[in-house]
Amino acid sequence: MLGLRDLGSEMLESILDRAESLLPVVRDGAASPVPERRAMIGLLFLENSTRTRCSFEVAASRLGHQPVVLTGRGSSLDKGESLVDTAANLAAMGLDVLVIRSAIAGGAALVARNIGIPVVNAGDGRHEHPTQALLDASTLRARLGSLAGKRVLIVGDILNSRVARSNIHALTAMGATVVLVGPPPLLPWTFAEFGPGVEVTHDLDGVLESADAVMMLRIQLERDAGRAVASDYRFAFGLTVDRLTRLGPGVPILHPGPMNRGVEIDDAVSADIARSSILEQVTRGVAIRMAIIDRALESGAG
Ligand code: CP
Repeated sequence: MLGLRDLGSEMLESILDRAESLLPVVRDGAASPVPERRAMIGLLFLENSTRTRCSFEVAASRLGHQPVVLTGRGSSLDKGESLVDTAANLAAMGLDVLVIRSAIAGGAALVARNIGIPVVNAGDGRHEHPTQALLDASTLRARLGSLAGKRVLIVGDILNSRVARSNIHALTAMGATVVLVGPPPLLPWTFAEFGPGVEVTHDLDGVLESADAVMMLRIQLERDAGRAVASDYRFAFGLTVDRLTRLGPGVPILHPGPMNRGVEIDDAVSADIARSSILEQVTRGVAIRMAIIDRALESGAG
């Protein structure tokens, strides 16, 4: 699972269905099927993470497998060891699957070409974040039913967002139109090249009322995006209470986290329990990662 670019709707729906069947394990602590063998799931996280890393750890544990975590700080990467050498050494310890988060776009694919175990991309630079987009699609499908014909606004720092890229692939494959909204420096018109299922605009207020769902993104300060935005960002692109009232009834609000409250999303919006799906995304993320670990183990055995 390196990215969603080449996954068709049938495969995407089948992953979402599998995750849906695992949701009671996450929500209610229902017993998950006992594995024939306890697998070792390596988690190599070379960028900060709260949700994705813990979610993979919980998912592996819920499935009866053993997570093994290595973060950049304190590892021999600090001594100059390469990403591929690090991954190869972990694989040589007998891991069954390696989950990787790295700042290098294409980092997970590079590792996958060089080690003999299945690799899962947990976010590679600005490129893709496939399990995030799968959990987003799962949340949207639960709220909206079929995504065919639905309009999903993705608002914010599109330029630097691997979440936006993976969502474009997944949501358009499932028949939705993705409307990308952001300030010019963070939303080049070249994103329209993604195809007919993608629209691009700098005018949030002009598209709010057409939305079936709204996904807010934070400004990626770690990728220097802060220099590209004005201090009045919230007035043009923040999801304020006033904007919330202009959305249709039942339009869900998503955010991959971490939120910058008072910048891209107001406190009262994230706390709106009728609309905010933000913690539901996190719950579904565990089920998605359980499904992805299962799938990776099957592909490794095959
Ligand atoms: N959504 C997401 O990737 O969050 P983390 O960076 O905390 O993993």
